[in-house]
Amino acid sequence: MQSNTHLLKFLYQAGLNYSFLESPRNRLTEKELSLKEPLSEKRSMTTQKPSISTPAKPLETQKHVEHPAYACQTLDDLRKALDVFEGCALKQSAQNTVFCDGNPQSDVMLIGEAPGAEEDKQGKPFVGMSGQLLDKMMAAIGLNRENVYIANIIPWRPPGNRPPSTQEIAACLPFIEQHIYLKKPKFLLLLGSVATKAILNNHTGIMKLRGQWQTYKPPMAHPNDPVIQALPTFHPAFLLRSPGQKVYAWEDLKTLKAAMDK
Ligand code: URA
Repeated sequence: MQSNTHLLKFLYQAGLNYSFLESPRNRLTEKELSLKEPLSEKRSMTTQKPSISTPAKPLETQKHVEHPAYACQTLDDLRKALDVFEGCALKQSAQNTVFCDGNPQSDVMLIGEAPGAEEDKQGKPFVGMSGQLLDKMMAAIGLNRENVYIANIIPWRPPGNRPPSTQEIAACLPFIEQHIYLKKPKFLLLLGSVATKAILNNHTGIMKLRGQWQTYKPPMAHPNDPVIQALPTFHPAFLLRSPGQKVYAWEDLKTLKAAMDK
């Protein structure tokens, strides 16, 4: 059972999000029920009544919704808003809120998925096994926690390190969006498929998207604010399980470094 869970998590992190049935399915004769919540409905969450059935608002009005994260004007405000936020049940089982690590002045912001056991214990992102690999990857291009900034899509550990659900991502997304807006990095390094999908709202798999520059503007950004360059790459936890893929992550890091040095 445990190894099946690990296998599924591995496949999911590798970007596989559907599987084939043993026999062909005639989709012309059936109505397909989709259990997936589109991420575009994410911004309609509020602290009082988290509701997954609230209809999506048109893009132009989404930035004016009442999620408490969007009202925060400093990183300190944002941290305090998380402390009183009751819209995500993961907070109840977590030991700590994992907000950030590193240098808020850095041009580069790394975004992971969610804290694991060690991160939950210490209240800091990427301090477990994945974090050790991440530190080595950063060191290979001359970066460390004094010159990068790190946060996660989800600030609370999902029990048993399961992947966060679509609803949990939707509830927490405004916080990381506002985090990016307030931090104002030039570059985002999106670690893995969960971070990539959540931030870019792009459903292309990580296998295809990694290493390809994307552009990002947080919802509260002013039209004149510069776009942020976002580079998807593999999550270090995936690289620990599939060391053969490190060669691609290395290519992505060189791509990041070249852009930073321009
Ligand atoms: N994995 C993540 O995505 N984030 C962490 O902080 C640790 C492990």
